[in-house]
Amino acid sequence: MCGIVGYIGLRQAAPVLLDGLAKLEYRGYDSAGIAVYDGKDINITKSKGRLQVLCELTHDGEKLPGHVGIGHTRWATHGEPNDVNSHPHFNESRSIVVVHNGIIENYASIKAKLIEKGYNFVSETDTEVIAHMLDYYYKGDPLEAIRKVMHRAEGAYALGIIFKEKPDMLYAVRKDSPLIVGKAADGNIIASDVPAVLKYTRDVCFIQNGEIAVLSKEDIKFCTIDAEDIQKEFTKIEWDVNAADKCGYEHYMLKEMFEQPEVIKDTLGSFFEDDRIVIPGVSITDEEIKKISKIYIVACGSAYHTGVTAKYVYEGMARIPVEVDLASEFRYRDPLLDKDSLVIIVSQSGETADSKAALEEAKRRGVRTLGIVNAIGSSIARDADDVVYTLAGLEIAVATTKAYSAQLIAHYMIALKFGLIRGEISEEEASDYIKDLKKLPDQVEMLLNNREKIQHFATRYAAAKDVFFIGRGIDYAISLEASLKLKEISYIHSEAYAAGELKHGTISLIEDGTLVAAVLTQEELYKKTMNNIVEVKTRGAFVLSVTNEGNTEIEKISDYNIYIPQTNKYFTNSLAIIPLQLFAYYVSVGKGFDVDKPRNLAKSVTVE
Ligand code: AGP
Repeated sequence: MCGIVGYIGLRQAAPVLLDGLAKLEYRGYDSAGIAVYDGKDINITKSKGRLQVLCELTHDGEKLPGHVGIGHTRWATHGEPNDVNSHPHFNESRSIVVVHNGIIENYASIKAKLIEKGYNFVSETDTEVIAHMLDYYYKGDPLEAIRKVMHRAEGAYALGIIFKEKPDMLYAVRKDSPLIVGKAADGNIIASDVPAVLKYTRDVCFIQNGEIAVLSKEDIKFCTIDAEDIQKEFTKIEWDVNAADKCGYEHYMLKEMFEQPEVIKDTLGSFFEDDRIVIPGVSITDEEIKKISKIYIVACGSAYHTGVTAKYVYEGMARIPVEVDLASEFRYRDPLLDKDSLVIIVSQSGETADSKAALEEAKRRGVRTLGIVNAIGSSIARDADDVVYTLAGLEIAVATTKAYSAQLIAHYMIALKFGLIRGEISEEEASDYIKDLKKLPDQVEMLLNNREKIQHFATRYAAAKDVFFIGRGIDYAISLEASLKLKEISYIHSEAYAAGELKHGTISLIEDGTLVAAVLTQEELYKKTMNNIVEVKTRGAFVLSVTNEGNTEIEKISDYNIYIPQTNKYFTNSLAIIPLQLFAYYVSVGKGFDVDKPRNLAKSVTVE
């Protein structure tokens, strides 16, 4: 996912741009560039590779003087990662320059028409089409040219634009790709995300679809694609500036794993007003909750995995039928939603394209929607009928840990509240659930602090070729997340299997020394999964088991065992996932990989 920044003010622009791009590196990128207007020329430096290359080429920005500029980190979608395809992009006369996050879906047809009109392109990107379109429509009024482009371009875009004839202005435009504006003491800033501006300001405004921001050194004005002036509210960002800093940890992922106790405590706490359980910030009424006929949990990746666990929790606690869907499937399968369905969209970033589209599909069908979202003011948070925020704070590592743990807590508490409202849970039962939930932060902290055992085990498996995770029920859901963690940061092939499914084919893959990680936290399923462990052992597997304290029977059949503290059967994912996150982390570190920015991945997948 690309990142854009822009600055206009009293400072030299280039250092501000480079700072901002550094805070957006977590989004994943393969090239970077900045353009600065010195009042006479717009000068660009851009290159393939890490941001450090750009800092060296520009001597940390000194070689590009000027008080207005734009910058970009590119995650290639159209055109391979190279210097020419890097942003920013110019029109031919170099009088207009653009940076873009998103995809212009009709760029090819527009490009063909512009070529017919005599325009020459130098790159393979869809973004360069924007630069030439602005040139084509520009007759002296930047806003008029911008609006014409917005009416013509299809797809998603967050744009930063400078016009040479307007040296004291910076323009920003949004459609579907996130974009914020920051008001600082000595200037004004645009960016794809909050971390890029926190060093300069906490006063932030979230640009909505179809809006244009016009920034000068002293002022910020807003208008719409339909040329109406609008007033916008600014939000005070309360995040700790350190959130965008490793604070002494080797990787953001390790730091964020260690933030999980606090995040669980904070997210849990947000569901209580005095001692009363509430679902914070929602408008859905008790009557509507009583009428819910079915819940659809729709998400991608790890957020989807929380949904696989949550199915057991909502059905077990609130006795509401649940379907769990991958967002990329949900939006095309013509789901049989009825008027009393509730669609819950789970998303850390709130900008995942498939999840946003699934939300739109549910709303189009007139079904109530609830977002479980981490990023404040994000598209899903804004567009769902209700949103419950997970209080994980800024999550930088591409591989989610603390946001995943916070999402689980949100599911537990929503299910608990629904169960109480629907009369499926007594106050006494609720009190017992709460007691177990309130123990989780300390239990997670204990598992994190006793990480040496799993760390030692992980270093032995850095050379593994295949790793299988097996479990039944919630243990299968835990296996799904554990397998994804390992795959996405260590690049080792891994599969998660419902333990009972092994004999239907996959067990043919087990051979001498194959690592099988078995998850056994559901007591009523211990025996069944232990039988599966015996099955794989007889075929030569080496078995790591993650199970509840007290289940020492496991030591008769399993080679290496990690015990988690006792908790309610619905909450075991919050504990069992901790050693499995650590396992993936230490394997990746053992392989010397870039844990926080794994190859090919982005923190939020804002394209289909
Ligand atoms: C998880 O570690 C991955 N980063 C990925 O699967 C992620 O969970 C998925 O892309 C969904 O992102 P979202 O929660 O921001 O929608």
